[in-house]
Amino acid sequence: MRKINVAAGGKNYDVLIGSGAMDGPDIPELAARADRTGFVVSGRVMELHAELVTPALEGTRGRLFPMKDGEENKNYRYAGEFFNLLLKEGFSRRSLVVAVGGGVVGDFAGYCAAAFMRGIALVHVPTTLLAMVDSSIGGKVAVNVDAGKNIVGAFHQPSLVAADTRFLGTLPDSELKNGIAETVKHALIGETGLLDLLRGNTLDSIRAPEVMEELIFLSAGFKARVVGEDERETGLRAILNFGHTVGHAIESLLDYRGISHGEAVALGMKVELDISRRLGYLSAGETELFIELTRKYGLAQGQLRLDIAGVLDHMKYDKKNYGGTIRFALLKGLGNPVFDQEVDIGLLREALETL
Ligand SMILES: NC(=O)c1ccc[n+]([C@@H]2O[C@H](COP(=O)([O-])OP(=O)(O)OC[C@H]3O[C@@H](n4cnc5c(N)ncnc54)[C@H](O)[C@@H]3O)[C@@H](O)[C@H]2O)c1
Repeated sequence: MRKINVAAGGKNYDVLIGSGAMDGPDIPELAARADRTGFVVSGRVMELHAELVTPALEGTRGRLFPMKDGEENKNYRYAGEFFNLLLKEGFSRRSLVVAVGGGVVGDFAGYCAAAFMRGIALVHVPTTLLAMVDSSIGGKVAVNVDAGKNIVGAFHQPSLVAADTRFLGTLPDSELKNGIAETVKHALIGETGLLDLLRGNTLDSIRAPEVMEELIFLSAGFKARVVGEDERETGLRAILNFGHTVGHAIESLLDYRGISHGEAVALGMKVELDISRRLGYLSAGETELFIELTRKYGLAQGQLRLDIAGVLDHMKYDKKNYGGTIRFALLKGLGNPVFDQEVDIGLLREALETL
C-alpha cells in the first residue's frame, strides 16, 4: 500500500493506493464521525464489485445510492433531485458522502457534497485509472448543464481518497487508455520517473499490480504536488491543461462522439508539442519520444479529418480562456512546462493541420 499526502485548500488528506485501500480503518473512522453516510456508487461498479463495496457499506451502516453511469447523468438536474433525497433520508451538515466510481460519479457526488448544506464531508473511492490519477485528486468537482460540460462546480477537497487497485481488474483497455493519456501528460510536464515506467511497459504489462501501483503513485503524487501549490488555478495548476486546450476543443467539436477523452487529449498533446517544437522549445527527438508512447499505448494514431476552423472556434469558448485570447500550457523541454502562453493563430493552424 502506498500513501500520498495532499495539502490543499487548508486541508490535509491522504491518498491510499493499492490492493485493499478501501478496506482499512479510514472510511469507518470518518463514517463514525458523521451522523449519516451515503455511498454514491456507479451502477456498473456495483454490478462488477459488490464483494468489495458491500463490506464497506455494512461496516459503516451506510445508505446506498446507486448512480447510473454516463456523462449525461452528471447533470445539475439530477443534483437537485439528489439534494431532496438526502434531506428525506435525514442527511445533515454532519453527514458524509462516499463516491465510488469513475470520474463521472466522483464529480457528481463531489459536487453534491460541496453544495449540500454549504458543504459536507467527502471520500473518493475512484474505480477507473483516470479517476485514480486525475479526477479524484485536487478538489475540482462539477456537473454539466445543457449548455456545457462542468459549468457548475466548486473546489471541495475530500477527507480521503482510497484508490483500491482491485477495481482495475475489470476496467476495459479503452478506459485504461483514458487514464494512461493523463499519466503521459504528467510524465511530459514534470514526473520524469513516469516517463521511464511508461517507456518500459506495454498496455498489458502495465496492468501488473506492482507496476500499476507505482504508476498511480507517481502520477497522483505529481498532481497532488501541483494542486498543493495552486489549488484554485491562479497560476501553476494551469500546466495540467497541457494537451487539454486542443483536446477539449476536438471533443466538443465532435460533440463527444466517436472519440474517447484519452484519444482527444493525446491529439491535443501532439498539437501542443508540435507548437512547442516550432517555437524552438523542444527538439525533434523529444517529440519523437511522445510518438513512441502513443504507439505503445494505442493513442493518437492515424490521420483525422478535422474542421480546423471549427476546432479554433471551440477553443475560443473554453471557460479556461479569458480576454479573448487562447492560452496554452507548452513545454520548454521535457518536464519543464510553461503556462499562459499566447500562440500566434497561424502557428496554431499549422500545428492543427498535422493531425
Ligand atoms: N474533477 C476533475 O478534476 C476531473 C479531471 C478529469 C476528468 N474529470 C471528469 O471525469 C469524467 C471521466 O471519468 P472516467 O474516465 O473515470 O469515466 P467514467 O466515470 O464515465 O467511467 C468510464 C466507464 O468505466 C466504467 N467503470 C468504472 N469503474 C469500472 C471498473 N472498475 N471496471 C469496469 N468498468 C468501470 C463506468 O461504468 C463507465 O462506463 C468526466 O466527466 C470528466 O469531466 C474530472
